[in-house]
Amino acid sequence: MTRFAALLSLLLTILTTGASAAADPSQGQAAATVRSPDGQIVVTLDAIGGHPAYTVHYRGAELISRSRLGLRFRRQAGLDEGLALGQVARRRDAGEWEQPWGERRVVTYAFKEITAAFVNQADPARRFQVVVRAYDDGIGLRYLVGPDAVGEQAEIVDELTEFAVPQDATAWWIEAGLPNRQEYLYRTTPVSEVKRAHTPITLRTDDGVHLAIHEAALVDYAGMYLKQLRSGRFEAELFPWYDGIKVRAQTPFRSPWRTIQISPDAPGLIDSSLILNLNEPNKLGDVSEWVKPGKYVGIWWAMHIRDRTWGRDGIHGATTEEAMRYMDFAAEHGFDGVLIEGWNLGWDGDWYRNGDVFSFTEPYPDFDIEAITRYGHERGVRLIGHHETSGNVTNYEQQLEGAFALYERLGVNQVKTGYVADAGDIKRLDEDGIPRYEWHDGQFMAQHHVRVLESAARHRIAINSHEPIRDTGLRRTYPNWLAREGARGQEYNAWGNPPNPPEHTAILPWTRMLSGPMDFTPGIFDLRPNERPPVDPSMGRNDPRSRIETTLAKQLSLYVVLYSPIQMAADLPENYEARPDAFQFIKDVPADWEQSITLSGAIGDHIAIARRERGGEDWYLGALTDEHGRSLQLTLDFLREDGAYTAQIYRDGEDAHWRDQPTSLVVESRPVRHGDVLKLDLAPGGGAAVRLRFDGR
Ligand code: NOJ
Ligand code: CA
Repeated sequence: MTRFAALLSLLLTILTTGASAAADPSQGQAAATVRSPDGQIVVTLDAIGGHPAYTVHYRGAELISRSRLGLRFRRQAGLDEGLALGQVARRRDAGEWEQPWGERRVVTYAFKEITAAFVNQADPARRFQVVVRAYDDGIGLRYLVGPDAVGEQAEIVDELTEFAVPQDATAWWIEAGLPNRQEYLYRTTPVSEVKRAHTPITLRTDDGVHLAIHEAALVDYAGMYLKQLRSGRFEAELFPWYDGIKVRAQTPFRSPWRTIQISPDAPGLIDSSLILNLNEPNKLGDVSEWVKPGKYVGIWWAMHIRDRTWGRDGIHGATTEEAMRYMDFAAEHGFDGVLIEGWNLGWDGDWYRNGDVFSFTEPYPDFDIEAITRYGHERGVRLIGHHETSGNVTNYEQQLEGAFALYERLGVNQVKTGYVADAGDIKRLDEDGIPRYEWHDGQFMAQHHVRVLESAARHRIAINSHEPIRDTGLRRTYPNWLAREGARGQEYNAWGNPPNPPEHTAILPWTRMLSGPMDFTPGIFDLRPNERPPVDPSMGRNDPRSRIETTLAKQLSLYVVLYSPIQMAADLPENYEARPDAFQFIKDVPADWEQSITLSGAIGDHIAIARRERGGEDWYLGALTDEHGRSLQLTLDFLREDGAYTAQIYRDGEDAHWRDQPTSLVVESRPVRHGDVLKLDLAPGGGAAVRLRFDGR
């Protein structure tokens, strides 16, 4: 946009703001605007030509140019044309709330909101409302349909929401609709090259404004992805039911929030709480007795690197003896839980395609679940349950209550679920027993995940879902939804071709992580597992090109950079025993935080985050880089002014390089105080992890 056009649109915004303030709300008006509390973000709604639309200005310039709004239905006339702007209600609110666990304990919010009616003059029953909330860190926008036509069946066939973004922007995105769901490497391209993208999709404009488009509070609606119509103009697409209908609803209903996070710089995007703030408050009450953040180990990586198998067709991993060995290791080193996969009937053969035969209550005969949980209980370690469905959701739902009841009786309070199936291949049986195939992100799965959370909550169990529906901040409403996968995690380094490149974890904080905590499973110490001889020649090894393209120090940094309330120490016990120096950081680092601050970063290049432990004064700092070595100077101005601290630094050695010297690590300590500058040299593919131990005043 030229300077003149920017000025003109600013002037127009000011004029329309004035106009809406003066208009008689009962008479309808040309436009309605709402400003963020700091005045930097202005959203304008209008119905020019009968078409509802919105525009977003940021710091006086147009950021989202006039973008369409509307819904189309199978039976009813669409809410997209012949409409006029009607009554506008205004509201503002500010305050704070507390997270039972999280990246920060206290979340503050301040917003201004308008609820605008769009009404068809000839047929006033054809109406809907659009709610727009403007916060200082972005906007949320949602549809309210009804409430006049109560109980009417509505089948949405198209949502028309557009996002007309700056065409000069750079985009970080993954393609939507491909078989591996959201498990793809992020692409960095001009915005014009994006086709169909999952959200969050993150953009940086030429003048450095960062924005991310996503959604909040996805309940009983279909997940959204974006399709580029014309250059810079994206339309919301909804993952359909098997029969093409996007959403089945009954009026009155409301859509999830469509969100745009906006920041003048890269760090600001990460420190935004917009998505959480747009979700409903906690529905489960005080969960502190049974939803526990913490760290865990597990019989897991051994399967991914082919040391063990899930089923009995190889070397079965989930045996009583092996479970007890991991329990001993967890107890000795202070871990809370042991995840064990492959414990239940159904894994033999091709488990990817055999989801109908999984039992969620019957252990394999060589897995004495009663003895194992008792053994753990005596040592203060819990079994973490596992439910792999292979996407056969009806089979799972039929067993859900029994499965959670069993775990509850055994003292298990956390279950990892899994939906390994190609995108669009979630199998459910309809009322007539006919198999129907659904998307992981469609309305059926939005409903399913809530059914699982509610059933789990009745049994005081928390959930960590893999191959999940996208995270939209529901952890606020259901605080037993601890974490999800929903991106390429560590497992791709065991067998992925290619594995995750060094820049992957320098992109995740600005993309996938904006939506919520990820169970990435960091902490691999043997960085080339596939070069070892196979445990059993008949099982072989994965291709040695699958390896961990980071240094050891960078593996440690992930515990701070990639937020999750449950962090796995994913490697084998023997690999930790071989490196007690590095392992100490994993033993020390907490998984629950009082506060988090992004100190520095550029998408795809590097990031540095500091977090203060909950219930204590220690800070932890994680910094990592892509394939380029770099030096960061970080000012410790977040430390208490009156405190003395010891910095315990785990950094790359001088010769470290992810390719040929990945395990070169230096551990050193020195006193630091508020305001000191910490210089960190990161190797190519490297990182640093620092504990800033509070030594008193
Ligand atoms: C995929 C999950 O991401 C992984 O963690 C798990 O081990 C396998 N499914 C088997 O359930
Ligand atoms: Ca996965």
